Amino acid sequence: MIKPVAYKKTLEGKSNAHLLTFNDGRDYVVKYFQPGFEKTLANEWVAYCLARYLGLPIPFAQLVEIPPEFSAQYPELSQMTQTQFQFASLYVPDCFDGHQVTEVPAISNNENLAGVILFDYWMCNRDRTRKNIILCDDTPKSYRLWIIDHAEVFASFNWTLQDLETLPITILKSATHQIMAYFIEDEQKFSEQLEIIQTLPIHLIEEIVALIPEDWQVTSEERKAIVTALVVRRKRILKKLMERFIKRVYRPIHEQDK
Ligand SMILES: Nc1ncnc2c1ncn2[C@@H]1O[C@H](COP(=O)(O)OP(=O)(O)OP(=O)(O)O)[C@@H](O)[C@H]1O
Ligand SMILES: [Mg+2]
Repeated sequence: MIKPVAYKKTLEGKSNAHLLTFNDGRDYVVKYFQPGFEKTLANEWVAYCLARYLGLPIPFAQLVEIPPEFSAQYPELSQMTQTQFQFASLYVPDCFDGHQVTEVPAISNNENLAGVILFDYWMCNRDRTRKNIILCDDTPKSYRLWIIDHAEVFASFNWTLQDLETLPITILKSATHQIMAYFIEDEQKFSEQLEIIQTLPIHLIEEIVALIPEDWQVTSEERKAIVTALVVRRKRILKKLMERFIKRVYRPIHEQDK
């Protein structure tokens, strides 16, 4: 397992994410367990693993152990709750967020965008704001898009068992989804992605959920409810949400464009 070697800074945002250098020579964005935001780390973990399986553009991530002796050296870290594991996402340097780029001429990995939108609907990610995508210069006239910050999948960073059973099934208001929709070239992409989500092995979902560290306070009942919510949503709800999104968001954008 990689080990932290230097603290760089605390990043802006409610997660109090910290930028640390590790002994593989790379920088990672590390999130600690936070009271009041109890489900943040579990959400990040589950979303990361599923997004990876789906081939979505999410920075590499892993569970790390920041030794308490390391955290104790920096006031910003020593004040954080010390659980055994933290969530670390590889820092993608020299990029912009969706607010910093006023004009996007093209997205080089646009074949991923329908997958990102469906993933957000499947996971009930209500936080796909412009700050939660990053855009990196790729060719002189296009950006590569990455997705970050899955602290608020399952509708919140501190969901309860009951919340999981009653996740919203409505269209998400997201300017970022609109931007992404603009760059999707073929409506067919949505159904292709739906098929991939619907055929993802249930054992994989169960395994990912089982690997949520013990001290992140997700009970076994809650773990079961995560699996159930994902299975029910992909089977009964996702297709309807996809069709609604295409009708209300995707088509109007593309009809305007013609
Ligand atoms: N893998 C990454 N590569 C580059 N920058 C990142 C990465 N992860 C996070 N960041 C930066 O750190 C900021 C905070 O991270 P993140 O959005 O995950 O946490 P947050 O505190 O929950 O955010 P918010 O409160 O805005 O929802 C991001 O807005 C982004 O600027
Ligand atoms: Mg964020």
